[in-house]
Amino acid sequence: MRNEIYKPLIESIPLRRSTRAFLPEQLPKEYTEQIKHFFKDLELPFIHHARIEIFQAEPGKKLYNNGINPIDNLALIAETDLASISKAGFAGELVMLYAVSLGLSTCWFGHYKLSELGKYIDGIASADRIRESTMGYGYGKHIDAGERVICCMPFGRQNEKSKRLVDIVGAKLLTKRNPIEDLLEIPGSLNSCPEEIKDVLEYARLAPSAANAQMWRFGFGNGFTTVTVAKPVGYKHFKWEHPDVDIGMCAAHIWLGLLEKGYSPKVDVKADADRAFWMFDF
Ligand SMILES: Cc1cc2nc3c(=O)[nH]c(=O)nc-3n(C[C@H](O)[C@H](O)[C@H](O)COP(=O)(O)O)c2cc1C
Repeated sequence: MRNEIYKPLIESIPLRRSTRAFLPEQLPKEYTEQIKHFFKDLELPFIHHARIEIFQAEPGKKLYNNGINPIDNLALIAETDLASISKAGFAGELVMLYAVSLGLSTCWFGHYKLSELGKYIDGIASADRIRESTMGYGYGKHIDAGERVICCMPFGRQNEKSKRLVDIVGAKLLTKRNPIEDLLEIPGSLNSCPEEIKDVLEYARLAPSAANAQMWRFGFGNGFTTVTVAKPVGYKHFKWEHPDVDIGMCAAHIWLGLLEKGYSPKVDVKADADRAFWMFDF
């Protein structure tokens, strides 16, 4: 990925926050066009088949579980095996950072209302699919269920005047990050870690995660020339069925950090037990 493309994405990492209150205004069309082009031209270090659909939602309807319904939205669509959803998380996070670099606010939503989304995207909300979903939200618990909408993201201008409790609580409680020391596959393995890799992991730990669960664990190999990230084997979250999506987002931050340090890492992701396992060699 060229410097002029990834630099604004890196600068957006510390600026990005989940926004759940938007002004009820449709964005000028050039924003949605820019986002579409960004995704189309995205050069990733692996083959993937994720795609996005941008759509305008009807105001006043509950597309998301907390009732926000901005006009401009994006659906991230991919196959649902572990590696594919994780790659979708990677690609989706780069789009989110790109939207932030355009001055827009966003939020990942794993729990979008499928029947509502079906009004805007054809062929995704049959009665069977709605039955599979978690009480009508998201795409359900299945792994390898075929192509599904992995997550939805609203994007637009933040409503700074919103006083909704959910936004205030969300901004306070759901944004803190754990130190890298608490996010290691092997506790203590950071001791002789080079500073530049610690810098990369600082970007990684700022990635968003459902319910701010920060389920990523970092590992090292080959004298710190390999970095890995995955959830702990067996990890489950009571509210979010697909933590490997989040691991892909964290992997995207690692990749950007390594590019910034001048590396062109070899990137590999594969299913390992019940998780997607990412490996960066540089
Ligand atoms: C995969 C994923 C799914 C999410 N789903 C929801 C959701 O359904 N509802 C919601 O309010 N926030 C959702 N979030 C936003 C997280 O709560 C938020 O990223 C986290 O609390 C960290 O806060 P920050 O993004 O402001 O740094 C989701 C985030 C991710 C990464």
